[in-house]
Amino acid sequence: MPFKKMLFLLVVVLALVVPALSQSLLRVETDAQKAERMKWWTEARFGMFIHWGLYALPARHEWVKNYEHITDEEYQKYFEVYNPDLFNPKEWARMARNAGMKYFVITAKHHEGFCLWDSKFTDYKSTKTPYGKDLLKQVVQAFREEGLKVGFYYSLLDWHHPEYTVDRNHPMYNNEEFRKKAGTRDMQKYREYLFNQVREILTEFGTIDCLFLDYSFPKGKDGKGRKDWDSEKLLNMVRELQPNIIVNDRLDLDDVPGGWDFKTPEQFIPREWITVNGKKVPWETCQTFSDSWGYYRDEEGWKSPQQLVALLVETVSKGGNLLLNVGPTSRGTFDERAKERLQEMGNWMKLHNRSIYGCTQAPPEFKAPDNSLLTYNPQTKRLYIHVLTWPLGNLFLNGFAGKIKYAQLLHDGSEVQFGKADRPFQNKLDTIGSETVILKLPVKKPGPVMPVIELILN
Ligand code: GLC
Repeated sequence: MPFKKMLFLLVVVLALVVPALSQSLLRVETDAQKAERMKWWTEARFGMFIHWGLYALPARHEWVKNYEHITDEEYQKYFEVYNPDLFNPKEWARMARNAGMKYFVITAKHHEGFCLWDSKFTDYKSTKTPYGKDLLKQVVQAFREEGLKVGFYYSLLDWHHPEYTVDRNHPMYNNEEFRKKAGTRDMQKYREYLFNQVREILTEFGTIDCLFLDYSFPKGKDGKGRKDWDSEKLLNMVRELQPNIIVNDRLDLDDVPGGWDFKTPEQFIPREWITVNGKKVPWETCQTFSDSWGYYRDEEGWKSPQQLVALLVETVSKGGNLLLNVGPTSRGTFDERAKERLQEMGNWMKLHNRSIYGCTQAPPEFKAPDNSLLTYNPQTKRLYIHVLTWPLGNLFLNGFAGKIKYAQLLHDGSEVQFGKADRPFQNKLDTIGSETVILKLPVKKPGPVMPVIELILN
């Protein structure tokens, strides 16, 4: 065969084989398809995270088993007395809805390995405790009835499963004897369990809208990542079972097309809208009221209602979602401090949700005035100024001249007059340019924890 022909054939074969080899299992959508699938989620902006498990009994962090190096035998006492006698999922769901939350994500299983549902693949589950019933079913039903979308958190880590290999996050990592005995553990068997359980929670509870898989730590010594979870295969199964599901980014598939739907900054708000390869991506910050995720009796650093509203607003002002966590007690109730805060957020949301739902970052031509945060609704083209520190009468909007048709306080729909400086010397002393609009606000701060001014634009 002539050399040229051979070369041509080789190129053809490579062109066919290489993409097939490197092709991932995962479905890859166009940006528009992905945006459409995630539309309800992006518009919702506000959800409830629920961390509930045996760790509610010690009430000193959901990582207590790890932090205190508690053995399975010792930890068993929590399983044996677990009986949330005051559990009322309808009340939980009502509190979430009243707070303005549109979806929720609950820990079907956290790192400790305890399952809130009647899994076929383990006895380490709520139905085998004194409580005796499936908790997850009741929660799902109650929240669905209140109109919230359903999400599951499922821990990839498992500190109870007998085949889960001991990694650096395992409670017994520093126990030589334990590690020696655990040397025969077979991760393949754990993987089967993981696949079985994920399949189970995605088939036994109807439509599941979101899935939060937690988490990977591939870097450094004795970590775990995509190989350990067989991440691509797992995610592929998830998408086959629930084609519209929205999945987080903790499978260690950051660089794999279709490997995640949104980024999950935990306990912090990024300084700007998160970008990947220069493109803005969907993101959701998960946050706690205090510090830990599970119920922690003695924790005192609770955020104030004002801080929590600001957290939600700042998140939306950067194009993100907020997943705010509650850690119910072992009796199945929300802590009074959580109830108060949900109530306060609900009071605010009732009058101000127009500045949250369906809103996002303001177009770059609008710069936030001093001490305030902007959100924008691209459908209605309204701009919202959230005033963090109430000014003394004037709020200066630089570059807004000619852009505002009408302005009002959102909570009571009362007009906010605007114009140019009205004190004769102010213009001279302050060099207020003609591009600046001045909102004339009452000196006394209005009632809401964070007042909002709604601008109807020209
Ligand atoms: C972390 C923690 C965990 C918590 C989660 C929430 O990965 O291990 O306790 O559930 O973040 O995002």
